Amino acid sequence: MTLDAISMIKSDHRDVERLFGRLKKDTEDRPALLAELAAKFVAHSRGEEELVYPEIAKTVPSEKDQVREGAEEHHQAERMLLSLLDVDTDTAEFDTLLNELVQAVTHHVQEEESEILPALKKAVSRERLNELGRAFSERKAQEIQHGLPVGNGHKAGSGSKLGGGSKSRKPNRGAKEPSKEDLYHRAQEAKVPGRSSMTKEELTQALQKSGKV
Ligand SMILES: [Fe+2]
Ligand SMILES: [Fe+2]
Repeated sequence: MTLDAISMIKSDHRDVERLFGRLKKDTEDRPALLAELAAKFVAHSRGEEELVYPEIAKTVPSEKDQVREGAEEHHQAERMLLSLLDVDTDTAEFDTLLNELVQAVTHHVQEEESEILPALKKAVSRERLNELGRAFSERKAQEIQHGLPVGNGHKAGSGSKLGGGSKSRKPNRGAKEPSKEDLYHRAQEAKVPGRSSMTKEELTQALQKSGKV
């Protein structure tokens, strides 16, 4: 069955909303749920930024600013996710950060579904939407295979367990050397291409090249 890009994106949004609901209620499984959320969120966002958003900017130039804003919101949400990954899952701080993330992503999804996706639907053919859907699906699979660097050497890709399956993680703040998360934050800000699949050393080198370290 071929799904068009818009249906696939909306289905991902519902999936993320379900994960948010489970994360709010289920305090035991939070590390695994968070790892799943991080992997899916990043894969979805990369697919949109690399394939869907450029198509919208090209075919509906009046939506260019919205698309740029959308990509910035992805990066902001990724920073929030990384902060969440750095606090113990059974603390009030986790609840606060989770609520902030849910609010930010809900706002983003509402704008996407009410404005830019309907604009794309009007602008391109059904065939093109199906083509985009196939490419989006392949891009997401690729990203999930690489996994998101989430600090302490763990990846939130398919099948991986955050923190080796431990119930909660201790913050990594105050380390003398920048952690992989810190480097990843900086790489996001510096818009280093391919950052999500880089090792700590590669991130350091890329940041050095861009003059950020
Ligand atoms: Fe989306
Ligand atoms: Fe998005």
